Amino acid sequence: MPDTARPRESWGTRVGVILAVTGSAVGLGNFLRFPGKAAQYEGGAFMVPYFIALFLLGLPIALAEWSLGRYGGSKGYNSVPGIFRAVWNSRAASYLGGIGLLIPVIIYMYYVYIEAWCLGYAYKFAVGEMALGSDPAAYSNFFSTFIGDSEDGAALTSATQSLSGFLTSSLGLLLICFALNFFLIYRGLKKGIEWFCKWAMPALIVCAVVVLIRVLTLGTPNPDLPDRNLLNGLGHMWNPGGAGGKTFWQALLNAEMWLEAAGQIFFSLSVGFGIVLCYSSYLKPDDDIALSSVTASAGNEFCEVALGGLIAIPAAFIFLGPKGAGGSTFGLGFITLPNVFAAMPAGRWIGALFFFLLFLAAVTSSLSMLQPAIALLEEGLGLGRKASVAFLGFITAIGAGFVFYFSKDVMALDTMDFWVGTVCIYVLAMIEVILFAWVMGIEKGFAELTRGAEIKIPRFVMYIIKYVSPTYLLIIFGVWIYQMATAQEGNKFSTLAENPIAQLSVGLMLTTLVLFLFLIAQSNKRWDAQEARAAALEGETP
Ligand code: ALA
Repeated sequence: MPDTARPRESWGTRVGVILAVTGSAVGLGNFLRFPGKAAQYEGGAFMVPYFIALFLLGLPIALAEWSLGRYGGSKGYNSVPGIFRAVWNSRAASYLGGIGLLIPVIIYMYYVYIEAWCLGYAYKFAVGEMALGSDPAAYSNFFSTFIGDSEDGAALTSATQSLSGFLTSSLGLLLICFALNFFLIYRGLKKGIEWFCKWAMPALIVCAVVVLIRVLTLGTPNPDLPDRNLLNGLGHMWNPGGAGGKTFWQALLNAEMWLEAAGQIFFSLSVGFGIVLCYSSYLKPDDDIALSSVTASAGNEFCEVALGGLIAIPAAFIFLGPKGAGGSTFGLGFITLPNVFAAMPAGRWIGALFFFLLFLAAVTSSLSMLQPAIALLEEGLGLGRKASVAFLGFITAIGAGFVFYFSKDVMALDTMDFWVGTVCIYVLAMIEVILFAWVMGIEKGFAELTRGAEIKIPRFVMYIIKYVSPTYLLIIFGVWIYQMATAQEGNKFSTLAENPIAQLSVGLMLTTLVLFLFLIAQSNKRWDAQEARAAALEGETP
């Protein structure tokens, strides 16, 4: 039992909490990862496994997270270990909650660095430094030098060459983003996270709509290449047979596409991160969670499909043709798109707006990755805001510094993204489903979900959470690990066996996990003592 005398934070308004959860969800995943994946897997066909994963995994698990979180909050807990302990009264449950601290904190360590790239690109577009001509190699070289992917420590060397260039180097920008995140977290839930999301979310949508209008009015910019027009650009993104040349049915038979679609849903909704659990624990016991969770998920889907899905790939197709409109998430975002904006009328300002909106989307997501650990430091160890922010700042600074320094082939970032940003998310999602549907039980879970609900949630959703979601998760996870283990290229298991930086990165993640387990052990002692005190007081009461 947590310290009930401790003043607890809460959200200011209903709109504020919905915008904060939507802000956590809307991020780089919506504007870069989604269009890249959809185009790679035949657009229209990709939407089939994508929506199936949304309805069988994303939405049901989001509902479970909101319910578990608000339930834990009603028992006085805001941290994932505390919430799990409230649901399943055992120490083991709180240790399982450690993964709900590890995921957001590790993701923060590399996400904040990508956030810094977005801020840097927005600035460089605005001041006209991104007009690098029409040769794609110029953009690729620029990106490579900016992030220092040729050699470990290369970005550090270039950042410290001149004082004037420091602030706009990737290191200077990383420090700015880091400070901004911790400043907002220090201000707290209402004055920091909620305040920022309340203006950043509308602002990023306005920026996205302006960029979208520009893309949708591009027509056929080069009359000598009439095929490179808007309609073909949209077709390249959305028609099966567009990017990869397969038919709809051929595309659907690709198992990898089903895995990627489910992974995209988790990443995009920030489901399986431990974030929604923490955010919803600050609600009051009778606040609506049903309508709020559906609204936040719908907001995320709007930004992903209607905005993200119509900008990057069609624009890239119109200017670079079918071969240019593809590539990895980073390639699309930081090499292809800058090249496209440079060729577009008013591209300097459209580029600045696009990267600024990415930056805002990234900040609203990265902020949410810090709150779960802050919650444990405050409620489990009894630390004040200053001490918990300083403690978490120190840990994440080591991690972000590690990602920044070990930049060769973005190995550290890639390894952390795979083991924590992908594998652990499936594991946490599974734990949440089991806790909600099997430990709490679907009757109690349904009662929790529907208390104060402003929309009717059909009962069959409970059966989806109990049977369909875990089965789907298990199949996807099993097939995916098998594919990964047997893949000739990009095999993360052999990379781990061979690459010392990958091993160091895993070492850093394990050390962070051990630290969190230690903090949870300390928190348990405190919670046990508080529980014993409360029981003794109850015994004394006549
Ligand atoms: N949900 C966040 C994103 O899409 C992490 O980037």
